[in-house]
Amino acid sequence: MKTSLSFTPPAELESECLCVAVVDEGEGEKNSPKLLAGEDKVTSAASDLIASGEVTGKIFETVMLHAPRGLKAKRLLMIGGGKSKNFSAYELRKVAGTAIRFLKPKGIKSLAFVAPPNWRGAADQSAHSTLVAEREGPADAVRSIVEGAFVGDFDPDTYKSDRKDLSMHEFTVVAPRQSGNSLEPALQAGRIIGESQNFTRSLVNEPGNRMTPTNLAGQAREMVEQLRVPHLTCEVLDGEAIRELKMGAFWSVAQGSDEPPALILLRYNPPGAPEKPVLGLVGKGITFDSGGISIKPSDGMEKMKYDMAGGAAMLGAMRAIALLQPKVKVISIVCASENMPSGHAQKPGDVQIAMSGKSIEIINTDAEGRLVLADGLHYARQLGCTHLIDAATLTGACVVALGMINAGVFANDEEMFERFSRALKRAGEKMWRLPLDDEYREMIRSGIADIVNSGGRYGGAVTAAMFLKEFVDKTPWIHLDIAGVAWMEENKSWIAKGPSGIAVRSIVEFVRGFETLN
Ligand code: BES
Ligand code: MN
Ligand code: ZN
Repeated sequence: MKTSLSFTPPAELESECLCVAVVDEGEGEKNSPKLLAGEDKVTSAASDLIASGEVTGKIFETVMLHAPRGLKAKRLLMIGGGKSKNFSAYELRKVAGTAIRFLKPKGIKSLAFVAPPNWRGAADQSAHSTLVAEREGPADAVRSIVEGAFVGDFDPDTYKSDRKDLSMHEFTVVAPRQSGNSLEPALQAGRIIGESQNFTRSLVNEPGNRMTPTNLAGQAREMVEQLRVPHLTCEVLDGEAIRELKMGAFWSVAQGSDEPPALILLRYNPPGAPEKPVLGLVGKGITFDSGGISIKPSDGMEKMKYDMAGGAAMLGAMRAIALLQPKVKVISIVCASENMPSGHAQKPGDVQIAMSGKSIEIINTDAEGRLVLADGLHYARQLGCTHLIDAATLTGACVVALGMINAGVFANDEEMFERFSRALKRAGEKMWRLPLDDEYREMIRSGIADIVNSGGRYGGAVTAAMFLKEFVDKTPWIHLDIAGVAWMEENKSWIAKGPSGIAVRSIVEFVRGFETLN
């Protein structure tokens, strides 16, 4: 999708379709729709529709008008943004995605989206939300619109033989001229981040027979080669190297599968970056999780092809980081393996020695994500990472706790958590903090080894995080449990059913937040 900026007044712009957000300025029941076009000509083109009450501003409502009076565009699409006082970049992204997904099936190939004028973001959001609005400028609006448009443009129907190419060809953001020269970089950032999120989604979408650990490593290599960004390198460690590094926890998961594992190591080392920090991004890359000997029920097992979504998020984030070029060192480690039952699979009761030297009693072979991450996190520290983030489809318990709206976020350091919260707001992703109190530690005590790999039924998301905490020691660390949000169970107006690409945007914003401003 080609993206560009236009400073032409919306009414003068020739386009297949001009898209405008509509917010409801009414209080309570009565609604009072307002078109965010900054131009009376656009509002008067829609005056009959507004008078009829068909345009309310209700969130994601779509009303299309052909041959709008007084406008050069062939169509005018009005998309509801909800209550005016709640309208922030979070909604704006989804409004842009809704525009794309509404127009795509109609075969429309180009559209112009009007950036809301005088953009400040929302005045207030739910006090209970981690997305409490920051005041934002027009550049944030442009970035958000473009991100949302790319997210909307993605469809997962790759293997349908009658697949039609419905993708959007041209996306123009219409902005007022006086909004300054920060808009072009914002547009480019939005494109890079949106495309990278879709790269992640395309990896997660692939079935387990195709997306093996070897293939995931190949995709990472290819991505790095294609970007041709100096200072981004990719190295892949094979099973032998994993054993030689004494990654006993990672290897214990891989040993049951005929597919060889891969440790994917990406380094972004830009010139001029300070020695510290070195940010470490560690991802769970289980390309299929059968549960191993503690095998999963067959019902829904097919979904476990998305158990590499954390790893894929890190690859997408690294892609965006390499293109955005912040002056900060980043290392990414993706631990890729299958989790399979076989004659050489590990068994409940086995004891494994992790790379850190800690002994682990395996009481459930289905708690495999924490095993591969234990060694991934330890290795990241050994490579010099001063700050760590991991992302993983780690526990069903996190889905039970938070449903499919918020990911779980855990932190062992308040400053790190503050930084990450700011990144979440900029990225418009929802995550909710869960605890890591020392008292939970006893739930993973073992009679024979240092720890067990499963804390049982209660507080499962927390005990999984407590397990990981054993391997990060004092390093400031964020753990993201994305099990409930990595896969959309239904189509939404702004995003297709299937892989969501969650965490890519937040991680990119987190890394950008470290950039030294000089
Ligand atoms: N990959 C699963 C977690 C998962 C569940 C991801 C649902 C996406 C949707 C993970 O490896 C797993 O099996 N976790 C177990 C842990 C338990 C055995 C301690 C779980 O959550 O049941
Ligand atoms: Mn599992
Ligand atoms: Zn798993």
